[in-house]
Amino acid sequence: MIKTGIEAMSFYTPHRYISLATLAEKHGIDPEKFSRGIGQEKIALPGHDEDIVTMAAEAARPLIDRYGTEGIDTVLFATETGIDQSKAAGIYVHRLLGLPANCRNVELKQACYSATPALQLACSYVARRPDRKVLVIASDVARYDRESSGEATQGAGAVAMLISADPKLLEIGAVSGLFSEDIMDFWRPNHRRTPLFDGKFSTLRYLNALIEAWRDYGENGGKAYEDFARFCYHLPFSRMGEKAHRHLAKSAKASLDMEMALPGMLYNRVVGNSYTASIYLALISTLENSEDDLTGKSIGLFSYGSGATGEFFDATVVSGYQEHLFTQHHQAILEDRVPVSYEDYVELWGAPVAKDGEELTFEVEARGRYRLAGINDHKRIYVDTRA
Ligand code: CAA
Repeated sequence: MIKTGIEAMSFYTPHRYISLATLAEKHGIDPEKFSRGIGQEKIALPGHDEDIVTMAAEAARPLIDRYGTEGIDTVLFATETGIDQSKAAGIYVHRLLGLPANCRNVELKQACYSATPALQLACSYVARRPDRKVLVIASDVARYDRESSGEATQGAGAVAMLISADPKLLEIGAVSGLFSEDIMDFWRPNHRRTPLFDGKFSTLRYLNALIEAWRDYGENGGKAYEDFARFCYHLPFSRMGEKAHRHLAKSAKASLDMEMALPGMLYNRVVGNSYTASIYLALISTLENSEDDLTGKSIGLFSYGSGATGEFFDATVVSGYQEHLFTQHHQAILEDRVPVSYEDYVELWGAPVAKDGEELTFEVEARGRYRLAGINDHKRIYVDTRA
């Protein structure tokens, strides 16, 4: 059987953040609630000239620079925070990256989950067409109402993955465990910028979906708990991953080793929730922050999207994977960031929305190569500042 999976992957997050210590102080909350109770330190904040498209292009750029565009004939863009009801965000990215015109583009939605079906569809496609590659992008701005319980779990980021029949990082296993149920734990009607959610209920349904998906994975011939060296979870906040890992170990009647999940939480702790990108940010964090050599080892992944769908699947680390990581680039992105004051956070949180046909021009805030210059005549104007 043809091996398919992730040839390379890279992430991007904006250069500004608010520290959760600042948020705690402003709201008179014990900072330990956020650092230990939620397990988060920072919330990444896009400028007004940054969005899911600019972050996606920034995330994908290093992949294109290193591996080229040859063979890419499909862009699958996963997001919860779409910018248009009709046009796929990937089409803007397609142009910004200079991808071949003979390429399909589509956007996928199911809360935080949709990058996982994108990855699975891409693997199936390249198994049929091993000469082709698929660019899978997950990009989101997680923005909750201020002073809601979700406020501390905001964030923003994008992950880009090159899927091919020459997986240099991770081979994706053919077996999945699946679970869906129709619930209202977190949703966002078309007229709202921020989600409606039932926080505690959502955490309980997440854990239930994990166990149901894990059971289905086992029944479909998946690996045993003992076969895994690491686990990656969808991380709305890193403490959710700890709860999930504890829950899974208990369900599998295995002894708990939190070290199997902790390397995957390091980047997410300082980025915040990035919805569709979150589990793949955890996967990058696992590969880049595990001290031991993971060659040949199995990673278990649990992807969750409220509403709800969960999927458990596995990936096997490919020999020589270290040469295909972007560790220094990623660490530079995280280290070069600057904190903002509470007042600046409030200003950034209220990203301007163009009223019907209004012209908006945005100041240069983005530090990356791509930015949203403005909105005019209902059209978003994206620019490559190096073009
Ligand atoms: N020191 C240490 N720990 C403290 C503390 C302190 N001073 N004060 C509180 N804590 C602990 C609490 O004991 C609690 O721990 P447990 O979970 O172990 O009980 C934890 O901090 C959180 O405290 P609360 O339960 O009081 O927190 P909260 O009411 O503010 O809500 C939340 C927590 C419900 C997760 C909230 O952050 C939320 O609504 N988030 C948005 C929804 C969400 O992320 N859901 C996750 C599942 S859905 C999903 O995954 C999809 C998605 O991406 C949205």
